[in-house]
Amino acid sequence: MKAIVVTDEAAGTAGMTLTERPQPQPAGNDVLVEVHASGFTPGELTWPSTWTDRLGRDRTPSIPGHELAGVVSALGYGTTGLSVGQRVFGLTDWTRDGTLAEYTAVEARNLAPLPGDLDFTVGASLPISGLTAWQGLFEHGRVRAGQSVLVHGAAGGVGSMVTQLAREAGAYVIGTGRAADRRAALDFGAREFVDLENETLEDVGGVDLVFDVIGGGIGQRSAGLVRAGGTLVSIAGPPPARPADGLAIDFVVVPDRAQLGEIAQRVRDGRLRTVIGDVAPLDDAVAALNPAERVKGKTIIRVRP
Ligand SMILES: NC(=O)c1ccc[n+]([C@@H]2O[C@H](COP(=O)([O-])OP(=O)(O)OC[C@H]3O[C@@H](n4cnc5c(N)ncnc54)[C@H](OP(=O)(O)O)[C@@H]3O)[C@@H](O)[C@H]2O)c1
Repeated sequence: MKAIVVTDEAAGTAGMTLTERPQPQPAGNDVLVEVHASGFTPGELTWPSTWTDRLGRDRTPSIPGHELAGVVSALGYGTTGLSVGQRVFGLTDWTRDGTLAEYTAVEARNLAPLPGDLDFTVGASLPISGLTAWQGLFEHGRVRAGQSVLVHGAAGGVGSMVTQLAREAGAYVIGTGRAADRRAALDFGAREFVDLENETLEDVGGVDLVFDVIGGGIGQRSAGLVRAGGTLVSIAGPPPARPADGLAIDFVVVPDRAQLGEIAQRVRDGRLRTVIGDVAPLDDAVAALNPAERVKGKTIIRVRP
């Protein structure tokens, strides 16, 4: 099968090559998926899981990309809950070969059915940003209607999902980002916007929840904005400071079939929208994932047209 591989961490995305790899075999409880669309996160090339298996053994050449939408083409021994021919989408295991390939083997429990009226391109754009937003807001942040939520990077991949889901849940959303992001953040449902380059973050006063995708100095200053009993949720590594009388939590997104179903339903009925910046075929994936200029929104590789 055709696949993108990486062999050298130092080379980053520039070290990606399109090559032939053996088609994977589905292990017990796996499905083999014919990949139609794939999502890739540049950060994954810096994580040990891209280069070694769980025991730390070299697993290069590795196939990156861990978001997919496609069709189940075979079941491993004992696999239940999904069937051959079913449309699926989801987030695959970081320590196994990924989705920038014509086929990938993945645990069935990491996938959810993709409704027939959702395009594969849309399906592949949802798992990381959607699940991260859902888990940060509802599992770790325990957001409730009427609470105030400060969403950093509110026009970005994760932040735009957080903003929409928090607003729908009845929270008062204050978005942040660069000056140029104001319109987008307000369109996603933020009631207010703080331009982090020209305005003072501290002017927002106290909030019940901070969802931080930036970290560093922004994470540090955000801890002081969390009201008593509130939470600072970070996806940018351990928070550099903790709220005086609240929780600080950092987490890494995990696959979840039920949450994928919730996200897909919201996209179908127009309550949630995803931002796709570029769509390219697998043959052009290396160029698309090494853009000359920054692309706003997710780049999706359309493995099958
Ligand atoms: N822990 C996890 O499970 C997890 C899951 C998903 C993502 N992540 C991480 O979370 C981060 C965000 O991911 P993403 O997909 O949402 O990225 P993204 O689409 O680039 O969004 C980040 C947003 O924040 C803005 N921003 C960043 N730094 C800023 C600053 N100093 N001042 C003002 N605005 C700033 C960006 O603006 P510009 O585009 O103009 O820079 C962008 O709008 C990444 O580091 C990613 O690796 C972690």
